[in-house]
Amino acid sequence: MNARLLIDTYISFFEKRDHKQIINSPLVPIDDPTTLFTSSGMQPLIPYLLGEAHPQGKRLVNVQNSFRAVDIDEVGDNRHTTFFRMLGNWSLGDYFKKEEIPWLWEFLTVELSLPEDKLFITVFGGEDEIEKDTESFELWKKIVPAQKISFAGVDKNWWSRSGVPKNMPVGEIGGPDTEVYFRFDDIEHKKECKDNPVECECGKFLEIANSVFMQYQKTDKGFKELPNKNVDFGGGLERLLAAVEQKSDIFQTSLFSPIVKAIEREADLDYVKNQKAVRIIADHLRAAVYLIDAGVFPSNKERGYILRRLLRRSFDNLGQADVENIISAIVAECAKTDKTLSQNFEEIKNVILQEQQAYKKVIKDAEKIIGGAEENGTKEINADEAFKMYSTHGLSPTQIKSLGYIFDEQKFADLMQEHSKKSKTAGAGMFKGGLADHSELTIKGHTATHLLHQALRDMFGTDLHQTGSNITSERVRFDFNFDRNLTDDEIKKIEEIVTSKIKENLPVHFEMLPIEKAKGIKAMGLFDEKYEGDVKVYFIGDYSKEFCGGPHVDFTGKIKSFTIIKQENLGRGQKRIYAKVT
Ligand code: ALA
Repeated sequence: MNARLLIDTYISFFEKRDHKQIINSPLVPIDDPTTLFTSSGMQPLIPYLLGEAHPQGKRLVNVQNSFRAVDIDEVGDNRHTTFFRMLGNWSLGDYFKKEEIPWLWEFLTVELSLPEDKLFITVFGGEDEIEKDTESFELWKKIVPAQKISFAGVDKNWWSRSGVPKNMPVGEIGGPDTEVYFRFDDIEHKKECKDNPVECECGKFLEIANSVFMQYQKTDKGFKELPNKNVDFGGGLERLLAAVEQKSDIFQTSLFSPIVKAIEREADLDYVKNQKAVRIIADHLRAAVYLIDAGVFPSNKERGYILRRLLRRSFDNLGQADVENIISAIVAECAKTDKTLSQNFEEIKNVILQEQQAYKKVIKDAEKIIGGAEENGTKEINADEAFKMYSTHGLSPTQIKSLGYIFDEQKFADLMQEHSKKSKTAGAGMFKGGLADHSELTIKGHTATHLLHQALRDMFGTDLHQTGSNITSERVRFDFNFDRNLTDDEIKKIEEIVTSKIKENLPVHFEMLPIEKAKGIKAMGLFDEKYEGDVKVYFIGDYSKEFCGGPHVDFTGKIKSFTIIKQENLGRGQKRIYAKVT
């Protein structure tokens, strides 16, 4: 069974059980310009998990291209990738544990023919205020011997986008989960390991399936039950294929082996002797191919910066090798499931080759700095300078050092830590569609930004549009294209328009519309030409219609007040407004 067949088998298994296939949402989410990447199948479904009705019903299935930048540093072992495809099925308040668990087992053991003796189960053992999941345990016990089921706490058997309950912001949804692991018998246990997935650290067990019982929302007073008890299932295609093909190393599966062979050939790297380097190249270049296909370009900011890091880390490991044939091998393999890759092959290749040239120039410039240091009779370069080369141009510290020069490594490490803390904070904000959380105030702020956007266009014309936003319960931040300061009178007028729309208590609702129709009614938003299918448009009375993922208040009267606190100039014709919403 190859990747294509595995996907088809999964979709048809759940279609036979009345699931409707939903689209693979774009890797760069289209319904909110401030979200970095789609990182799991549930991400585009959050409003529905929160209780909104999905236009395709209560049983959904799909395969979602996903990218997790947080895993960049994990890549190099036998199981982690930054880009992956997630098989997903969802129940939006329809079926629950007693259907999900036997179906999953049937899919794994009958459809995929995975040997039962190699499958192990984990179940939530209870922690904090959430009780032990005895229902799942009893259901699994009817299927597998009790000794193959292990209990674990929130660290292993709880899922939310922010991880364990204490890390979840108010408004975030999550729940206990049950996971299926595949045991690879070619890997020997370490002395301290026990033969179950909870107490083994040697990599013998691989998590291949995760059914999250998405039923809680964090509030400032602890957890409350969501209106529905939902199922959010996710299984990584790459890992399921590893189990099917019984390869404990996902880079040795049929999905990756042609790519690994191309890297071995072009870079003259023997996989066995250079596993880590080859895995990094294979993962990072494959992810880069998908990101470029999704419209990302290398740059020093946000998505572009992540793409740049992936590419430059690949180039570091590739040495002088010709990257073109490796890209061809990646596209040839991945286009079997994602056709646009072959259509966009030339563009993808050119972006990567241009970045390779740009990186060569950075290295040359670095050599000049280093050369300058040498002329001054010292081999030492300034840690700030070294860090700038890393953060701005993506030159790795190893590369600077391997030229034989030194810098204050402690200072460099401190700068790196500070930088990573900042980008994690920014990333956390970006992750949720520009909303820091789903608290009441943040949701009010979100609706207020739609009113603000329309008010600005009323005053300054429809060339004005949103270029970014970030909303927390403390304040709303809204960026737009405008090349001068707003006057005090203009600020007052904007506040008056927004306040009058709040006072009118306009109803807020959304509709799923074909993209052409959404454009036809002049809904505001960024429309991706490649996108096919329906888009979600939020209407605020007759006043505003905007392409958006939600959530929003149901009536504008829920907002009590809107005040602009300050404006900032972002340069390049961009303005930023901060406002307070209560
Ligand atoms: N949302 C769950 C995950 O991403 C299924 O693992």
